[in-house]
Amino acid sequence: MSTATPQPKENMGAPLPRIDGRAKVTGAARYAADFAVGNAAQAYLLTSTIARGRITGFDLTKAQAIPGVLHIMTHENAGPIGSLTFMMMGGQSSDSVKPLDGPAIHYAGQIIGMVVAESYETARQAARAVGVTYAAEAPTSGFDPPGGEVIAAATMPEHEDPKAGDAEAAFAKAAVKIDAEYSTPPQHHNTIELFSTTCVWNGDELTVYEPSQWVKGLQVGLATQLGIKPDKVRVISPYVGGAFGSKGTVTNRTVLVALAARLLRRPVRLVATRAQGFSFATYRAETKQRVRLAADASGKLVAFTHDGYEITSRTDAYAVAGTKNTAVMYDYGTVLTKVSIVRADRNTPGFMRSPGEVPYMFALESAMDELAVALKIDPVELRRRNDTRKSPINGAPYTSRSLVECYDQAAAAFGWAKRNPQPRSMQDGEWLIGYGCATACYPTQHNPASIRIKLTGEGQARVEIGVHDVGTGAYTAVAQIVSEKLGLPIENVEVVLGESTLPPGPIAGGSVTTASVAAVADIACAALRKRLFGEGALAASATPTVEAYAGAFERIGTGAIEEYAEWSQKGARPGAMAGLHKGQVGISGGQTDDAVMFSFGAEFVEVRVHSLTGEIRVPRVVGAFAAGRIVNTRTANSQLMGGMIWGIGSALHEFTEVDEREARYVNDNIAEYLVPVNADVPVVDIILVPEVDTIIPMGIKGLGELGNVGTSAAIANAVYHATGKRYRDLPLVIDKTVA
Ligand code: MOS
Repeated sequence: MSTATPQPKENMGAPLPRIDGRAKVTGAARYAADFAVGNAAQAYLLTSTIARGRITGFDLTKAQAIPGVLHIMTHENAGPIGSLTFMMMGGQSSDSVKPLDGPAIHYAGQIIGMVVAESYETARQAARAVGVTYAAEAPTSGFDPPGGEVIAAATMPEHEDPKAGDAEAAFAKAAVKIDAEYSTPPQHHNTIELFSTTCVWNGDELTVYEPSQWVKGLQVGLATQLGIKPDKVRVISPYVGGAFGSKGTVTNRTVLVALAARLLRRPVRLVATRAQGFSFATYRAETKQRVRLAADASGKLVAFTHDGYEITSRTDAYAVAGTKNTAVMYDYGTVLTKVSIVRADRNTPGFMRSPGEVPYMFALESAMDELAVALKIDPVELRRRNDTRKSPINGAPYTSRSLVECYDQAAAAFGWAKRNPQPRSMQDGEWLIGYGCATACYPTQHNPASIRIKLTGEGQARVEIGVHDVGTGAYTAVAQIVSEKLGLPIENVEVVLGESTLPPGPIAGGSVTTASVAAVADIACAALRKRLFGEGALAASATPTVEAYAGAFERIGTGAIEEYAEWSQKGARPGAMAGLHKGQVGISGGQTDDAVMFSFGAEFVEVRVHSLTGEIRVPRVVGAFAAGRIVNTRTANSQLMGGMIWGIGSALHEFTEVDEREARYVNDNIAEYLVPVNADVPVVDIILVPEVDTIIPMGIKGLGELGNVGTSAAIANAVYHATGKRYRDLPLVIDKTVA
């Protein structure tokens, strides 16, 4: 049965409710644009209506004549802005197009200016009154039009195409084989909270309220652009109304707000429109993929090849390259992969929840289902026969891997045994019924972290760490971790996060937060206990009580003590710890030289496809997941449920329409960009599979990005089972599936 508060099993923590829950549901929680800063002027962005070419002139006369207009900023008057390095090259910026750098236009929706006025309405009206003339060139919008430039990802720094053995030869002589092409669409971030920035100067010190997955990166990046010291910039972001990767990098809007506020000597607030966010923030780019799978007659895999093509911008080489994950999923025998990027006149793509896993696992898990059909083997059995304990690429062992346990438990809960494998064999009136399944995975990664914990004689702990609660439950998880390690009730643990003045923590990306925080908190808590109780008590397994703390403080005659600690994962790149303090990402993990670390899951769905209209409904979803130690079963359940619901959206609803002539996003609004609503979301059952991993730090794998991987393949596989038709291009909208 579905429950929001699953009882903890082995190696799982209590389902404590969110400590920020009350603040959020009562409206007490303040999001970035909620902070009252006093007499703020309001900004509105000017954005390019062409995708390629240059600006030939502005006519500001009409706009400037509108009462209440304070300033119109363009490349002609913005002044110099310091250069930032693209995030994938070790910097902080979402792309390499510098803000207001000149007349060149690199993509539609590029920020070309900003109007600041007494009110939002006036700023918007003036923005619409600004005349812009362009010299436009014909843009390339995606894969198909002429003008795209194809580049092997292997030419990018740090990218390697995984391979093992001679896959071409093994494929050529195999008994049973699949060779198929798949595609996934562009998707844009449509978080509830819009992209906003509020800047307030106090002398030479700047305070920035902006929803952020990376306060340290934003602080350092913005200081670099402004040419000031990072400690003059304070970023405040205690709550984030959805991020998913869209709020991890420095976008071109922020520095403009800071410059306007400095010029006008007054706070300036920008709340960008949803449509504008489609272009100045990042998105999930479309992919095209070819997968070949081959097996012997017994269903043992002998070859796997995976080619991926991804759209990127003219200015940046960005690839999610999910082949690094698909290459280690099964005992393939031989592997050959290649990723290519295709440059078009588009904004630079970027992180979106499970960036590489969602599109690439759709292709692999669809192909596995196709192979199971060709072999006449049950798709669950095919995964079982090809399960592996080591990397097919370098032979490194999995630290733990519970994929088969996930399949067994989810299949039992789902009632997979009742499935008649014959396509189009199960029906309810005019509805064709299909069952499908697929594998979910996410690499276990870490990032260096620092922390400060203060403990008082009353047994009150204050935890300061620059991590982020992007709706994931980080406040609660951090409090729970520290409360366990110090033996204090959770009410006694105060967590402060989401501020650049705190000891820096990881970017809220790569599902690294919980494990990285647990590792650094472990060091700080051990140090606190050692100071109070000495070495002997430290070794004892008994956790101290509030009373024991009071006694210890009395003995050493002090009222409060504080510990600062740093932690860095094994295998982190050299300088990663220092980089944490300089606003550099230091994530590593997944496949390493001596170990493979992954969370796994198995997702099962029932679909109903209307035999006449092609309408697809999903009445049931069951997922079983193993991710090492689960810190809080309630927040874990919520993450996985939200993930699978997004997976339903990925399969059936979500895609951005790109106008081929103009290289512009057409459905850049929440009315036409569809996401699942309540009526689309069925019973979602989540099973947490106990797993003990003694090798990875703190035994915690992370699961924020696990749930939405594989769902789209499970649904497409179920649609095949229902209809006998294989759909390889997402999303499965009705114009594709109508009979
Ligand atoms: Mo997440 S896509 O790693 O911000």
